[in-house]
Amino acid sequence: MKLFQRIFGRKPVPQMTPDLASEIRRSFEEAASDEEHFPSTIDPRILHVRTIVEFLGDLGSGRALDLGCGKGRFARIVKEHNPRAAVVAMDLAVAMLECADTNLERVAASMLALPFPDGALDAAYATESLEHAVDTARAVAEMCRVVKPGGKLVVIDKNAAHWGRFETPQWEKWFHEEELKGLLGWHCRHVECRPISYWEDVEPDGLFLCWTAVK
Ligand SMILES: C[S@@+](CC[C@H](N)C(=O)[O-])C[C@H]1O[C@@H](n2cnc3c(N)ncnc32)[C@H](O)[C@@H]1O
Repeated sequence: MKLFQRIFGRKPVPQMTPDLASEIRRSFEEAASDEEHFPSTIDPRILHVRTIVEFLGDLGSGRALDLGCGKGRFARIVKEHNPRAAVVAMDLAVAMLECADTNLERVAASMLALPFPDGALDAAYATESLEHAVDTARAVAEMCRVVKPGGKLVVIDKNAAHWGRFETPQWEKWFHEEELKGLLGWHCRHVECRPISYWEDVEPDGLFLCWTAVK
C-alpha cells in the first residue's frame, strides 16, 4: 500500500463489490447526523453553487438531476432559481435525502445505475459525490446517458494533484483534469475544466476542479 502511494500519489482504489456498496451506503447513512461535515445548507454566493446555477441557465419547465445530492443543499438553490423546473435530488443514503426539501423529487438510487431512461433530463450535476462512485467511468457514462442531447453537465470535485490533503475513506478517489475530461468527452462535446475556489475574490488553490460539458 505504502509503495503504491509513493509511486502513484494515491491509495489503490478498490473495485466496487456488493460489500463495498453496502459499506459506502452505511457510512453515509450514519454521516447524515453529522451536520458539521455534511451540512444541509450552503451560502448561495459560494462559487460552486453560482457556477452550477449559471452554467445550467434557465431550465424553464425542464428537469435537472443532482447526483449524490446529500442533504440537497445545491438542489434547493437550483430549484429556487428555477421554480417551474423539476429538480431531482438523488442519493444513495435515505437519511441524507430525508433532509432534502420536499419540493424536490427525492430519489434513493446509485449513480452507477440511474433509474431514468436515456435522455430524460435537461441537465445533471455532481458536487463532491463522484469521488465516492468507485467505478467512475460507469458513473460518468450514466450521468451522460440520462441527459438529452444539448443538455448540460457539471462536475465539481477534488483534484488528484492535491491528494493527501485530507484523510479519506479507502474507496474515495480524486481526479486529474484530463481523466474526467476524457470520460466526459466520450459522451459530450465542449468539455472544459478549470480550478474553482469558494469565493470570487479568492484565487483557486487548486483543490477543487470544475468540469462543464454539453452533450
Ligand atoms: C460528500 S457528500 C456530498 C453531498 C452533496 N453533493 C453536497 O455537496 O452537499 C457525498 C454524497 O454522495 C453520496 N453517494 C456516495 N456514493 C453514491 C452513489 N454510488 N450513488 C449515489 N450517491 C452516492 C453520499 O451518500 C453522500 O450524500
